[in-house]
Amino acid sequence: MNKNLKTSSRLKTDKPNSIQKFNHKNLLAISQLNQVEIVELLDRADEMAKVSLTPQNIIPSLKGKTQINLFFENSTRTQASFEIAGKRLGALVMNMNVQTSSLNKGETLIDTASTLNAMRPDVIVVRHSASGAVELLSQKVSCSVINAGDGSHEHPTQALLDALTIRRHKKRLNGLTVAICGDIAHSRVARSNLMLLNAMNVRTRVIAPQTLLPKGIENICAEVFTDMKKGLKDADVVMMLRLQHERTDGQLIPSAREFYHFYGLDKKKLSYAKPDAIVMHPGPMNRGVEIDPSIADGAQAVITEQVEMGVAVRMAVLNSLVGKSAHNNMGHNNMGHNNMGHNNMGQENE
Ligand code: CP
Repeated sequence: MNKNLKTSSRLKTDKPNSIQKFNHKNLLAISQLNQVEIVELLDRADEMAKVSLTPQNIIPSLKGKTQINLFFENSTRTQASFEIAGKRLGALVMNMNVQTSSLNKGETLIDTASTLNAMRPDVIVVRHSASGAVELLSQKVSCSVINAGDGSHEHPTQALLDALTIRRHKKRLNGLTVAICGDIAHSRVARSNLMLLNAMNVRTRVIAPQTLLPKGIENICAEVFTDMKKGLKDADVVMMLRLQHERTDGQLIPSAREFYHFYGLDKKKLSYAKPDAIVMHPGPMNRGVEIDPSIADGAQAVITEQVEMGVAVRMAVLNSLVGKSAHNNMGHNNMGHNNMGHNNMGQENE
């Protein structure tokens, strides 16, 4: 048996639902987490999901803390759920309106970060279109930083909420077969999911046309397919992805109609997976492009549950990084006022 698998089983029975020490200041990528930390975050999120169902639905572990949501790219699910998560933990939550901020007057990302840091927040949640921008920002502030999606790099809380949704349905992760289908090349969701699922000993597959497969994908995914029938065979989980038009020049597929014909999840293609397979989509969905509406709204879809688990996972992550019981290694050392650097990233596109 795999060594990691043994560790996971022991942890789950020995100390369920307790994060003894989450020794991180930031959550920037799944690749920074080991299997033990992933299991513990999922266990904590399971507890948070119960809190959300209680009449009061708050636990004030972030009372007195300040959370800033700084989204340079559009978002519905991630921004709303981070706001709700912070509020359910009792934090003071501020949504920065980037469209009306001084970034439009030429201020750089780093100067914006420095300015916000001077207001002494405890955590900044950042989404940016440039891969690496969130990590760069984290080096310029003294508070915790959470990556809410950076370019085509990572979207760690999405992978955690996907894993939680799968685990709640299948009662385990290890040994499952998960097929991720669609625009793998430009998807931070695919990348973060592959990192997490590999760490949890899941059998990972990707299915996409050759033009939407990134170079070196075979290094982070066990099986690579260009054919849905072969790739979906006996899958436990089918995860569909949106075509990331904002990160391509539109030349990678002949047409949305043809893409749907070969790669859109319909009843026939879903029948190749296991009869009890669940269907996932991180959203936003393009119905009739990557997924048929009858499947998106069908009995096997768990898409709205993914959204619900998004709040629970983000509560768990916030709590682990800056909650009262969190291991707090950050301090406020005014680092944000020094060595700020100016690279004009606020105006850069990936
Ligand atoms: N899944 C996801 O990141 O959705 P949003 O872009 O709406 O936040």
